[in-house]
Amino acid sequence: VPRTTPPSRFEIIRTVMRNPLELWGEPSFRLEWLKTRFFNERTLIVNHPGLVRHVLVDNAQNYKMATIRQMVLRPILRDGLLTAEGETWKRSRKAMAPVFTPRHARGFAEQMLEQSRAFTGRYETAAANGEVRDIAVDMTELTFDILSATLFSGQVAGTEAEFAGDIDRLLSTMGRVDPMDLLKAPSWVPRFRRMLGKPILAKFRAIVEETMTRRQALMQTDPQNVPEDFLTLLIGLQGPDGLSFDEIEDNIITFIGAGHETTARALGWTLYCLANSPQDREKVEAEIDEVLAREPDPVKWLDLMPWTRAAFEEAMRLYPPAPSINRAAIADDSWDNGKGETVTIEAGTTILVMPWTLHRHTKLWDRPEAFIPSRFLPENRGAIDRYQYLPFGVGPRICIGATFALQEAVIALGVLLSRFRFDCTDATKPWPMQKLTTQPEGGLPMRVTRR
Ligand code: HEM
Repeated sequence: VPRTTPPSRFEIIRTVMRNPLELWGEPSFRLEWLKTRFFNERTLIVNHPGLVRHVLVDNAQNYKMATIRQMVLRPILRDGLLTAEGETWKRSRKAMAPVFTPRHARGFAEQMLEQSRAFTGRYETAAANGEVRDIAVDMTELTFDILSATLFSGQVAGTEAEFAGDIDRLLSTMGRVDPMDLLKAPSWVPRFRRMLGKPILAKFRAIVEETMTRRQALMQTDPQNVPEDFLTLLIGLQGPDGLSFDEIEDNIITFIGAGHETTARALGWTLYCLANSPQDREKVEAEIDEVLAREPDPVKWLDLMPWTRAAFEEAMRLYPPAPSINRAAIADDSWDNGKGETVTIEAGTTILVMPWTLHRHTKLWDRPEAFIPSRFLPENRGAIDRYQYLPFGVGPRICIGATFALQEAVIALGVLLSRFRFDCTDATKPWPMQKLTTQPEGGLPMRVTRR
Protein backbone atom coordinates (compact mmCIF):
# COMPACT_ATOMS: atom_id res chain seq x y z
CA VAL A 1 0.00 0.00 0.00
CA PRO A 2 1.64 3.27 -1.05
CA ARG A 3 2.20 5.56 1.92
CA THR A 4 0.45 8.89 2.08
CA THR A 5 2.56 10.39 4.86
CA PRO A 6 6.34 10.46 5.06
CA PRO A 7 7.79 8.02 7.59
CA SER A 8 8.51 9.47 11.01
CA ARG A 9 12.04 9.75 12.38
CA PHE A 10 11.30 6.89 14.73
CA GLU A 11 10.09 4.66 11.86
CA ILE A 12 13.24 5.44 9.89
CA ILE A 13 15.48 4.56 12.84
CA ARG A 14 13.53 1.34 13.33
CA THR A 15 13.94 0.40 9.65
CA VAL A 16 17.65 1.26 9.62
CA MET A 17 18.16 -0.90 12.70
CA ARG A 18 16.04 -3.77 11.39
CA ASN A 19 16.62 -3.83 7.65
CA PRO A 20 17.91 -0.79 5.73
CA LEU A 21 17.02 -2.46 2.39
CA GLU A 22 13.38 -1.71 3.19
CA LEU A 23 14.05 2.03 3.09
CA TRP A 24 14.30 2.09 -0.68
CA GLY A 25 10.99 2.39 -2.50
CA GLU A 26 10.04 2.22 -6.15
CA PRO A 27 11.62 5.56 -7.26
CA SER A 28 15.04 4.32 -6.10
CA PHE A 29 14.83 1.58 -8.75
CA ARG A 30 13.62 3.92 -11.51
CA LEU A 31 15.49 7.23 -11.14
CA GLU A 32 19.09 7.79 -12.23
CA TRP A 33 19.83 9.86 -9.16
CA LEU A 34 17.84 10.97 -6.20
CA LYS A 35 18.52 13.73 -3.70
CA THR A 36 17.07 13.33 -0.27
CA ARG A 37 17.71 14.25 3.34
CA PHE A 38 18.51 11.52 5.77
CA PHE A 39 18.82 12.42 9.44
CA ASN A 40 19.26 15.98 8.30
CA GLU A 41 22.19 15.05 6.10
CA ARG A 42 22.15 15.76 2.39
CA THR A 43 22.12 12.40 0.66
CA LEU A 44 22.56 11.53 -3.01
CA ILE A 45 21.52 8.12 -4.28
CA VAL A 46 23.53 7.29 -7.39
CA ASN A 47 22.07 4.91 -9.98
CA HIS A 48 23.53 6.24 -13.22
CA PRO A 49 26.64 4.35 -14.42
CA GLY A 50 28.28 7.63 -15.52
CA LEU A 51 27.74 9.20 -12.11
CA VAL A 52 28.97 5.99 -10.42
CA ARG A 53 32.14 6.30 -12.46
CA HIS A 54 32.48 9.97 -11.53
CA VAL A 55 32.29 9.47 -7.74
CA LEU A 56 34.08 6.13 -7.41
CA VAL A 57 36.72 6.40 -10.15
CA ASP A 58 37.30 9.67 -12.05
CA ASN A 59 36.95 12.02 -9.08
CA ALA A 60 37.42 9.44 -6.31
CA GLN A 61 39.88 11.67 -4.45
CA ASN A 62 36.97 13.98 -3.58
CA TYR A 63 35.09 11.22 -1.75
CA LYS A 64 36.07 9.73 1.59
CA MET A 65 34.58 6.86 3.60
CA ALA A 66 31.15 7.82 4.94
CA THR A 67 31.00 8.49 8.66
CA ILE A 68 28.68 5.57 9.38
CA ARG A 69 31.29 3.02 8.26
CA GLN A 70 33.92 4.82 10.27
CA MET A 71 31.71 4.79 13.38
CA VAL A 72 30.73 1.13 13.14
CA LEU A 73 33.78 -0.57 11.68
CA ARG A 74 36.72 1.62 12.58
CA PRO A 75 36.73 0.71 16.29
CA ILE A 76 37.05 -2.96 15.24
CA LEU A 77 39.26 -2.76 12.15
CA ARG A 78 41.27 0.41 12.97
CA ASP A 79 43.84 0.98 10.20
CA GLY A 80 42.92 -2.15 8.21
CA LEU A 81 42.48 -1.53 4.49
CA LEU A 82 38.68 -1.28 4.62
CA THR A 83 38.65 1.60 7.13
CA ALA A 84 42.05 3.26 6.56
CA GLU A 85 42.11 6.66 4.85
CA GLY A 86 44.63 8.95 3.15
CA GLU A 87 48.31 8.11 3.22
CA THR A 88 47.92 5.06 5.50
CA TRP A 89 45.44 3.52 3.04
CA LYS A 90 47.66 4.34 0.04
CA ARG A 91 50.78 2.81 1.60
CA SER A 92 48.93 -0.29 2.84
CA ARG A 93 47.12 -0.93 -0.45
CA LYS A 94 50.43 -0.67 -2.33
CA ALA A 95 52.22 -2.93 0.14
CA MET A 96 49.50 -5.59 0.05
CA ALA A 97 48.82 -5.60 -3.69
CA PRO A 98 51.46 -8.32 -4.34
CA VAL A 99 49.76 -10.62 -1.79
CA PHE A 100 46.49 -10.50 -3.74
CA THR A 101 47.73 -11.14 -7.28
CA PRO A 102 45.97 -13.84 -9.33
CA ARG A 103 49.19 -15.86 -8.95
CA HIS A 104 48.76 -15.99 -5.17
CA ALA A 105 45.03 -16.69 -5.42
CA ARG A 106 45.94 -19.64 -7.65
CA GLY A 107 48.40 -20.78 -5.00
CA PHE A 108 45.45 -21.05 -2.59
CA ALA A 109 43.29 -23.16 -4.95
CA GLU A 110 44.48 -26.49 -3.52
CA GLN A 111 43.56 -25.35 0.02
CA MET A 112 40.15 -24.25 -1.21
CA LEU A 113 39.62 -27.65 -2.78
CA GLU A 114 40.82 -29.56 0.26
CA GLN A 115 38.58 -27.59 2.64
CA SER A 116 35.55 -27.91 0.34
CA ARG A 117 36.11 -31.69 0.14
CA ALA A 118 36.49 -32.00 3.91
CA PHE A 119 33.25 -30.06 4.30
CA THR A 120 31.32 -32.26 1.85
CA GLY A 121 32.69 -35.29 3.70
CA ARG A 122 30.93 -34.05 6.83
CA TYR A 123 27.78 -33.47 4.75
CA GLU A 124 27.43 -37.02 3.44
CA THR A 125 25.26 -38.33 6.30
CA ALA A 126 22.97 -35.31 6.21
CA ALA A 127 22.53 -35.78 2.46
CA ALA A 128 21.93 -39.53 2.77
CA ASN A 129 19.07 -38.73 5.18
CA GLY A 130 17.74 -35.83 3.07
CA GLU A 131 18.12 -33.45 5.99
CA VAL A 132 16.89 -29.88 5.94
CA ARG A 133 19.80 -27.66 6.92
CA ASP A 134 20.32 -23.94 7.29
CA ILE A 135 22.53 -23.37 4.26
CA ALA A 136 23.36 -19.82 5.38
CA VAL A 137 24.99 -21.20 8.52
CA ASP A 138 26.71 -24.03 6.66
CA MET A 139 28.19 -21.75 3.99
CA THR A 140 29.60 -19.48 6.70
CA GLU A 141 31.29 -22.52 8.20
CA LEU A 142 32.73 -23.57 4.85
CA THR A 143 34.11 -20.11 3.98
CA PHE A 144 35.50 -19.75 7.49
CA ASP A 145 37.33 -23.08 7.08
CA ILE A 146 38.77 -21.86 3.76
CA LEU A 147 39.77 -18.51 5.21
CA SER A 148 41.35 -20.07 8.26
CA ALA A 149 43.35 -22.52 6.11
CA THR A 150 44.58 -19.87 3.66
CA LEU A 151 45.13 -17.14 6.26
CA PHE A 152 46.99 -19.03 8.95
CA SER A 153 46.94 -22.71 7.98
CA GLY A 154 44.68 -23.42 10.95
CA GLN A 155 47.54 -22.44 13.28
CA VAL A 156 45.57 -20.03 15.42
CA ALA A 157 46.46 -19.50 19.08
CA GLY A 158 43.53 -21.08 20.95
CA THR A 159 40.93 -23.24 19.20
CA GLU A 160 39.39 -22.44 15.83
CA ALA A 161 35.87 -22.99 17.16
CA GLU A 162 36.41 -20.45 19.91
CA PHE A 163 37.94 -18.07 17.40
CA ALA A 164 34.92 -18.40 15.06
CA GLY A 165 32.54 -17.87 18.01
CA ASP A 166 34.38 -14.69 19.02
CA ILE A 167 34.03 -13.31 15.50
CA ASP A 168 30.27 -13.95 15.54
CA ARG A 169 29.87 -12.27 18.92
CA LEU A 170 32.04 -9.38 17.88
CA LEU A 171 30.06 -8.67 14.72
CA SER A 172 26.70 -9.02 16.43
CA THR A 173 27.66 -6.59 19.20
CA MET A 174 29.99 -4.00 17.70
CA GLY A 175 29.36 -4.56 14.00
CA ARG A 176 26.02 -2.76 13.93
CA VAL A 177 24.81 0.79 13.76
CA ASP A 178 23.92 2.24 17.14
CA PRO A 179 20.76 4.41 17.24
CA MET A 180 22.81 7.01 19.11
CA ASP A 181 25.10 7.28 16.07
CA LEU A 182 22.13 7.88 13.79
CA LEU A 183 20.83 10.57 16.12
CA LYS A 184 24.31 12.09 16.23
CA ALA A 185 24.24 12.06 20.02
CA PRO A 186 27.37 13.55 21.62
CA SER A 187 30.22 11.14 22.16
CA TRP A 188 29.65 10.96 25.96
CA VAL A 189 26.24 9.30 25.41
CA PRO A 190 26.93 5.56 25.90
CA ARG A 191 26.74 3.24 22.89
CA PHE A 192 25.77 0.02 24.61
CA ARG A 193 26.55 -2.38 21.77
CA ARG A 194 30.03 -1.02 21.42
CA MET A 195 30.55 -1.26 25.17
CA LEU A 196 29.42 -4.88 25.23
CA GLY A 197 31.77 -5.71 22.37
CA LYS A 198 34.88 -4.16 23.91
CA PRO A 199 36.01 -7.12 26.05
CA ILE A 200 35.32 -9.55 23.16
CA LEU A 201 37.41 -7.37 20.86
CA ALA A 202 40.26 -7.21 23.37
CA LYS A 203 40.31 -11.02 23.69
CA PHE A 204 40.11 -11.48 19.93
CA ARG A 205 42.96 -9.05 19.29
CA ALA A 206 45.08 -10.83 21.90
CA ILE A 207 44.59 -14.14 20.05
CA VAL A 208 45.52 -12.60 16.69
CA GLU A 209 48.58 -10.98 18.26
CA GLU A 210 49.69 -14.26 19.83
CA THR A 211 49.17 -16.06 16.49
CA MET A 212 51.37 -13.46 14.76
CA THR A 213 54.08 -13.56 17.43
CA ARG A 214 54.31 -17.36 17.25
CA ARG A 215 54.57 -17.29 13.46
CA GLN A 216 57.21 -14.59 13.56
CA ALA A 217 59.25 -16.69 15.97
CA LEU A 218 58.88 -19.74 13.71
CA MET A 219 60.02 -17.71 10.69
CA GLN A 220 63.22 -16.92 12.57
CA THR A 221 63.93 -20.26 14.26
CA ASP A 222 62.71 -22.78 11.68
CA PRO A 223 62.26 -21.08 8.29
CA GLN A 224 62.05 -24.47 6.49
CA ASN A 225 58.80 -25.30 8.24
CA VAL A 226 56.93 -22.06 7.80
CA PRO A 227 53.55 -22.57 6.05
CA GLU A 228 52.96 -20.61 2.85
CA ASP A 229 49.86 -18.68 3.79
CA PHE A 230 48.59 -15.10 4.07
CA LEU A 231 50.05 -14.74 7.54
CA THR A 232 53.59 -15.48 6.36
CA LEU A 233 53.15 -13.18 3.36
CA LEU A 234 51.78 -10.35 5.51
CA ILE A 235 54.44 -10.63 8.22
CA GLY A 236 57.01 -10.44 5.40
CA LEU A 237 55.63 -6.97 4.54
CA GLN A 238 56.94 -5.44 7.75
CA GLY A 239 59.47 -2.68 7.30
CA PRO A 240 60.02 1.06 6.94
CA ASP A 241 58.29 1.24 3.52
CA GLY A 242 55.85 -1.50 4.34
CA LEU A 243 53.55 -2.10 7.29
CA SER A 244 53.96 -1.98 11.06
CA PHE A 245 53.13 -4.96 13.30
CA ASP A 246 49.91 -3.20 14.39
CA GLU A 247 48.86 -2.51 10.82
CA ILE A 248 49.35 -6.15 9.92
CA GLU A 249 47.20 -7.11 12.89
CA ASP A 250 44.49 -4.65 11.76
CA ASN A 251 44.57 -6.16 8.28
CA ILE A 252 44.33 -9.74 9.47
CA ILE A 253 41.23 -8.75 11.42
CA THR A 254 39.94 -6.94 8.31
CA PHE A 255 40.43 -10.00 6.10
CA ILE A 256 38.60 -12.17 8.59
CA GLY A 257 35.76 -9.62 8.74
CA ALA A 258 35.59 -8.83 5.01
CA GLY A 259 36.66 -12.15 3.60
CA HIS A 260 34.32 -14.92 4.68
CA GLU A 261 30.78 -13.81 5.44
CA THR A 262 30.58 -11.99 2.09
CA THR A 263 31.49 -15.10 0.10
CA ALA A 264 29.27 -17.27 2.32
CA ARG A 265 26.24 -15.07 1.59
CA ALA A 266 26.89 -15.17 -2.14
CA LEU A 267 27.23 -18.97 -2.10
CA GLY A 268 24.00 -19.40 -0.11
CA TRP A 269 22.04 -17.13 -2.45
CA THR A 270 23.47 -18.96 -5.48
CA LEU A 271 22.23 -22.33 -4.18
CA TYR A 272 18.85 -20.75 -3.44
CA CYS A 273 18.53 -19.18 -6.92
CA LEU A 274 19.60 -22.40 -8.64
CA ALA A 275 17.03 -24.41 -6.66
CA ASN A 276 14.36 -22.09 -8.07
CA SER A 277 15.64 -22.38 -11.62
CA PRO A 278 15.97 -26.10 -12.46
CA GLN A 279 16.99 -25.55 -16.12
CA ASP A 280 19.94 -23.42 -15.06
CA ARG A 281 20.83 -25.88 -12.32
CA GLU A 282 20.97 -28.68 -14.88
CA LYS A 283 23.37 -26.65 -17.05
CA VAL A 284 25.60 -25.92 -14.05
CA GLU A 285 25.57 -29.56 -12.90
CA ALA A 286 26.37 -30.85 -16.41
CA GLU A 287 29.26 -28.41 -16.73
CA ILE A 288 30.68 -29.34 -13.32
CA ASP A 289 30.40 -33.09 -14.02
CA GLU A 290 32.17 -32.68 -17.33
CA VAL A 291 35.01 -30.51 -15.97
CA LEU A 292 35.62 -32.56 -12.82
CA ALA A 293 35.89 -35.71 -14.90
CA ARG A 294 38.73 -34.35 -17.03
CA GLU A 295 40.46 -31.54 -15.11
CA PRO A 296 41.73 -32.30 -11.59
CA ASP A 297 43.55 -28.95 -11.25
CA PRO A 298 41.15 -26.53 -9.46
CA VAL A 299 43.13 -23.50 -10.68
CA LYS A 300 41.65 -24.10 -14.13
CA TRP A 301 38.03 -24.37 -13.02
CA LEU A 302 37.27 -20.66 -13.02
CA ASP A 303 37.90 -20.52 -16.79
CA LEU A 304 36.38 -23.89 -17.56
CA MET A 305 33.08 -23.33 -15.75
CA PRO A 306 31.40 -20.27 -17.30
CA TRP A 307 27.87 -21.37 -16.27
CA THR A 308 28.88 -21.89 -12.65
CA ARG A 309 30.61 -18.54 -12.51
CA ALA A 310 27.65 -16.87 -14.26
CA ALA A 311 25.18 -18.34 -11.73
CA PHE A 312 27.32 -16.98 -8.88
CA GLU A 313 27.58 -13.55 -10.51
CA GLU A 314 23.86 -13.40 -11.26
CA ALA A 315 23.07 -14.33 -7.63
CA MET A 316 25.34 -11.45 -6.54
CA ARG A 317 23.41 -9.16 -8.87
CA LEU A 318 20.11 -9.99 -7.16
CA TYR A 319 21.58 -10.29 -3.66
CA PRO A 320 24.79 -8.25 -3.54
CA PRO A 321 26.62 -9.26 -0.34
CA ALA A 322 27.71 -5.62 0.09
CA PRO A 323 24.43 -3.83 -0.74
CA SER A 324 25.65 -0.28 -0.27
CA ILE A 325 28.92 1.54 -0.96
CA ASN A 326 28.87 4.82 0.94
CA ARG A 327 31.03 7.90 0.62
CA ALA A 328 31.04 11.53 1.79
CA ALA A 329 31.90 14.45 -0.54
CA ILE A 330 34.93 16.41 0.67
CA ALA A 331 34.52 19.52 -1.52
CA ASP A 332 31.69 20.80 -3.74
CA ASP A 333 31.47 18.87 -7.00
CA SER A 334 29.19 18.51 -10.01
CA TRP A 335 28.54 16.08 -12.83
CA ASP A 336 26.99 16.62 -16.21
CA ASN A 337 25.03 13.79 -17.82
CA GLY A 338 25.77 14.99 -21.37
CA LYS A 339 22.09 15.76 -21.96
CA GLY A 340 22.09 19.18 -20.41
CA GLU A 341 21.37 18.03 -16.86
CA THR A 342 23.82 18.74 -14.07
CA VAL A 343 23.94 17.13 -10.66
CA THR A 344 25.40 19.45 -8.03
CA ILE A 345 26.99 17.82 -5.02
CA GLU A 346 27.67 20.02 -1.99
CA ALA A 347 30.60 19.29 0.31
CA GLY A 348 29.51 16.96 3.12
CA THR A 349 26.83 15.18 1.03
CA THR A 350 26.52 11.47 1.76
CA ILE A 351 26.78 9.45 -1.44
CA LEU A 352 25.03 6.10 -1.64
CA VAL A 353 26.08 3.90 -4.53
CA MET A 354 23.85 0.95 -3.89
CA PRO A 355 24.40 -2.32 -5.70
CA TRP A 356 21.00 -3.13 -4.18
CA THR A 357 19.17 -0.56 -6.36
CA LEU A 358 21.68 -0.42 -9.22
CA HIS A 359 21.52 -4.19 -9.79
CA ARG A 360 17.71 -4.20 -9.97
CA HIS A 361 17.31 -0.89 -11.77
CA THR A 362 14.45 -0.92 -14.26
CA LYS A 363 16.31 1.31 -16.77
CA LEU A 364 19.48 -0.77 -16.74
CA TRP A 365 18.39 -4.40 -16.78
CA ASP A 366 16.01 -6.45 -18.83
CA ARG A 367 13.66 -8.29 -16.42
CA PRO A 368 15.64 -7.02 -13.42
CA GLU A 369 13.89 -9.27 -10.88
CA ALA A 370 14.51 -12.52 -12.80
CA PHE A 371 17.44 -14.88 -12.22
CA ILE A 372 19.03 -15.16 -15.69
CA PRO A 373 22.64 -16.41 -15.35
CA SER A 374 23.21 -16.35 -19.13
CA ARG A 375 23.60 -12.53 -18.85
CA PHE A 376 27.03 -13.24 -17.40
CA LEU A 377 28.27 -15.75 -19.98
CA PRO A 378 31.41 -14.41 -21.71
CA GLU A 379 29.56 -13.89 -25.02
CA ASN A 380 26.85 -11.73 -23.36
CA ARG A 381 28.89 -9.83 -20.80
CA GLY A 382 29.74 -7.03 -23.24
CA ALA A 383 26.17 -5.74 -22.84
CA ILE A 384 26.71 -5.01 -19.14
CA ASP A 385 28.25 -1.60 -18.43
CA ARG A 386 31.32 -1.72 -16.17
CA TYR A 387 29.56 0.69 -13.78
CA GLN A 388 26.14 -0.92 -13.52
CA TYR A 389 27.29 -4.13 -11.80
CA LEU A 390 29.37 -3.57 -8.68
CA PRO A 391 29.41 -6.56 -6.31
CA PHE A 392 33.06 -5.78 -5.56
CA GLY A 393 32.87 -1.99 -5.99
CA VAL A 394 35.02 -0.17 -8.54
CA GLY A 395 37.90 2.30 -8.61
CA PRO A 396 40.88 2.61 -6.27
CA ARG A 397 38.99 1.00 -3.37
CA ILE A 398 37.69 -1.99 -5.33
CA CYS A 399 37.63 -5.21 -3.28
CA ILE A 400 41.19 -6.48 -2.99
CA GLY A 401 39.88 -10.03 -2.45
CA ALA A 402 37.69 -10.25 -5.58
CA THR A 403 39.85 -12.76 -7.47
CA PHE A 404 40.26 -14.84 -4.34
CA ALA A 405 36.47 -14.83 -3.75
CA LEU A 406 35.56 -15.78 -7.34
CA GLN A 407 38.02 -18.64 -7.40
CA GLU A 408 36.87 -19.84 -3.99
CA ALA A 409 33.21 -19.71 -5.07
CA VAL A 410 33.71 -21.73 -8.26
CA ILE A 411 35.76 -24.37 -6.44
CA ALA A 412 33.27 -24.64 -3.56
CA LEU A 413 30.29 -24.82 -5.94
CA GLY A 414 32.13 -27.37 -8.10
CA VAL A 415 32.69 -29.67 -5.14
CA LEU A 416 29.26 -29.16 -3.53
CA LEU A 417 27.16 -29.49 -6.68
CA SER A 418 29.07 -32.49 -7.99
CA ARG A 419 27.83 -34.45 -4.96
CA PHE A 420 24.67 -32.82 -3.62
CA ARG A 421 21.44 -31.21 -4.70
CA PHE A 422 19.91 -28.38 -2.69
CA ASP A 423 16.12 -27.87 -2.82
CA CYS A 424 13.74 -25.38 -1.26
CA THR A 425 11.13 -26.56 1.22
CA ASP A 426 7.91 -24.84 2.37
CA ALA A 427 10.02 -23.16 5.04
CA THR A 428 12.43 -21.56 2.53
CA LYS A 429 11.17 -17.98 2.46
CA PRO A 430 14.29 -15.88 2.73
CA TRP A 431 13.76 -12.15 2.84
CA PRO A 432 16.89 -10.19 1.98
CA MET A 433 18.01 -8.22 4.97
CA GLN A 434 20.99 -5.90 5.31
CA LYS A 435 23.10 -6.47 8.36
CA LEU A 436 26.80 -6.20 7.62
CA THR A 437 26.04 -8.20 4.47
CA THR A 438 22.82 -9.08 2.62
CA GLN A 439 21.59 -12.07 4.56
CA PRO A 440 18.40 -14.12 4.39
CA GLU A 441 16.04 -13.22 7.21
CA GLY A 442 14.94 -16.53 8.75
CA GLY A 443 18.01 -18.30 7.31
CA LEU A 444 18.10 -20.55 4.25
CA PRO A 445 16.51 -23.86 5.23
CA MET A 446 17.07 -26.22 2.28
CA ARG A 447 16.89 -29.95 1.77
CA VAL A 448 20.19 -31.59 0.89
CA THR A 449 20.20 -34.87 -1.01
CA ARG A 450 22.83 -36.89 -2.81
CA ARG A 451 22.87 -36.42 -6.56
C1 HEM B 1 36.42 -4.02 -0.24
C2 HEM B 1 32.71 -6.86 -1.59
C3 HEM B 1 35.37 -10.84 -0.58
C4 HEM B 1 38.70 -7.98 1.48
C5 HEM B 1 35.21 -4.45 -0.77
C6 HEM B 1 34.23 -3.59 -1.41
C7 HEM B 1 33.18 -4.39 -1.75
C8 HEM B 1 33.52 -5.75 -1.38
C9 HEM B 1 31.88 -3.93 -2.41
C10 HEM B 1 34.38 -2.11 -1.71
C11 HEM B 1 33.93 -1.22 -0.60
C12 HEM B 1 34.03 0.26 -0.97
O1 HEM B 1 34.41 0.67 -2.08
O2 HEM B 1 33.69 1.04 -0.09
C13 HEM B 1 33.12 -8.19 -1.43
C14 HEM B 1 32.33 -9.35 -1.83
C15 HEM B 1 33.08 -10.45 -1.55
C16 HEM B 1 34.33 -10.01 -0.98
C17 HEM B 1 30.94 -9.28 -2.43
C18 HEM B 1 32.76 -11.93 -1.76
C19 HEM B 1 31.87 -12.40 -2.58
C20 HEM B 1 36.54 -10.41 0.01
C21 HEM B 1 37.63 -11.27 0.42
C22 HEM B 1 38.55 -10.45 1.03
C23 HEM B 1 38.05 -9.10 0.97
C24 HEM B 1 37.67 -12.77 0.22
C25 HEM B 1 39.89 -10.79 1.65
C26 HEM B 1 40.45 -11.94 1.71
C27 HEM B 1 38.35 -6.67 1.20
C28 HEM B 1 39.13 -5.51 1.63
C29 HEM B 1 38.48 -4.37 1.12
C30 HEM B 1 37.31 -4.85 0.40
C31 HEM B 1 40.40 -5.54 2.46
C32 HEM B 1 38.93 -2.90 1.27
C33 HEM B 1 39.72 -2.47 0.06
C34 HEM B 1 40.18 -1.02 0.12
O3 HEM B 1 39.47 -0.18 0.65
O4 HEM B 1 41.27 -0.75 -0.40
N1 HEM B 1 34.77 -5.77 -0.79
N2 HEM B 1 34.31 -8.62 -0.92
N3 HEM B 1 36.84 -9.10 0.33
N4 HEM B 1 37.27 -6.23 0.47
FE1 HEM B 1 35.85 -7.43 -0.33
